[in-house]
Amino acid sequence: MNSVGIDAVAVHAGKLRLDLAETFAPAMDEDPGKYTKGLGLHASSFPDVEEDIVTMGANAAHKLMERKGLTPEDIGRIDVATESAFDNAKPVSTYIAGCLEEVFEDDFHHANKGERKFACISGTQSLDDAYNWIRAGRHRGRAALVIATDTALYARGDAGEATQGAGAVAMLIAEDPDLVEMSLEQGFGSADETDFLKPNQQFPSVDGKRSVQVYLARMREALADYESVAGQTHPDQFEYIPFHTPFPGMVRKAALFGYRHMIRDTDIEETVATDIGRQPRIEEFDDESQYHDAVREYMDALKETDAYGEWYDRAIEPTLDIARHVGNWYTGSVHVARASALRRAREEDIDMAGKQLLVGSYGSGAQAEIHAETVQENWTDEIDALDIDEQLTERRDITFEEYEEIHDVHNHDKEADIDAFTTPSEEFVRDGPGPMDERTYRYVE
Ligand code: COA
Repeated sequence: MNSVGIDAVAVHAGKLRLDLAETFAPAMDEDPGKYTKGLGLHASSFPDVEEDIVTMGANAAHKLMERKGLTPEDIGRIDVATESAFDNAKPVSTYIAGCLEEVFEDDFHHANKGERKFACISGTQSLDDAYNWIRAGRHRGRAALVIATDTALYARGDAGEATQGAGAVAMLIAEDPDLVEMSLEQGFGSADETDFLKPNQQFPSVDGKRSVQVYLARMREALADYESVAGQTHPDQFEYIPFHTPFPGMVRKAALFGYRHMIRDTDIEETVATDIGRQPRIEEFDDESQYHDAVREYMDALKETDAYGEWYDRAIEPTLDIARHVGNWYTGSVHVARASALRRAREEDIDMAGKQLLVGSYGSGAQAEIHAETVQENWTDEIDALDIDEQLTERRDITFEEYEEIHDVHNHDKEADIDAFTTPSEEFVRDGPGPMDERTYRYVE
């Protein structure tokens, strides 16, 4: 069996930009440092009036197919991962296929289409589905198109409003991939949690502080489960560790937990022990709360060591370059983190071929998944083709009043009729409602 993994990636960022420190924080009467230092965010991307999850997904997929010289006949399945769907029956992949059929001569009538839901982790689950379909040999030589697309909006006044974002990531999953091969080994941490949910409502009900704890707990379980099949991990084994990134501050917390776990019983634990001692072991304590206090103390000290700082700057920080300027893309976020790291490797001229990534995905509700990826020989062509810098520079900055308007435009319960802020060119946009009040789309030359 040939290797299977991600052959190509393309992104589409919402075309509007809200500056969090300069525009949002003052309007909310908050210190800008909460955003830039605490959450690690500078800006959020927002969809313009004529954009939604379908247009963003179709635009990313169109770009990817054009660049790889593909036609619909090359695609055997289209899976969309989203938690922002507006239709409870007809999957978003059918709307996206309909868009793409406007610009390609052939159609996708023989492609299996679906939609995956499990909060932010469904993008990675869709990669899994595609991987399994190819490894099972049911793909007839064709590739799978996985599109993670979301408008991550919260109700006005909700704490999550600080971490919003909108964008899509399209990925082609194929045999002999050009970007990364996915490992057969994977680990899961999964439990019935009520930290973040949308019971038939557009905006989430969130227990934000709890969701942070649930993320860490499930990620820890997933890492232990991964190690049970792949063997113990070591920080030097992986060039980068892209995590699901609802906001960079979340990853900062997860990285410290991950590092403590990975260095246990290794040369690194022994080296840092001269300054901060060995990690507390539960069997050394009579009382569980004393153990937890000791762990907290150890983690505070570990965070300040040179060994941790150097590892964090090398393996984690590069994964956050893009997230800082776009906010949360829910299902697309971990895939943005991978692209961000590889883009940094390219900038720093690091030879990544054959090197390993450890990818940590998470979805509220809640489940974490960890697998490894091996970077392929042709990775530079794929990363050079990413036009994310141009997209981010071209975004239109919005004022706070414009933000309020655009939030209303995308609120399903409100009627807001305003002109688009940007002029579309060579892209899919929303059109007027169809005869069954369905969303319709057109391609603008
Ligand atoms: N300078 C530096 N740091 C600052 C600061 C300042 N002026 N003001 C606040 N901070 C820090 C806080 O200490 C905190 O960091 P910590 O968590 O390491 O202690 C961080 O900035 C956030 O501030 P906080 O007051 O906790 O923000 P909040 O009450 O608005 O809530 C979330 C933050 C993440 C809980 C909220 O944005 C949320 O609900 N998000 C959606 C859910 C989510 O994304 N969950 C993640 C798992 S999927």
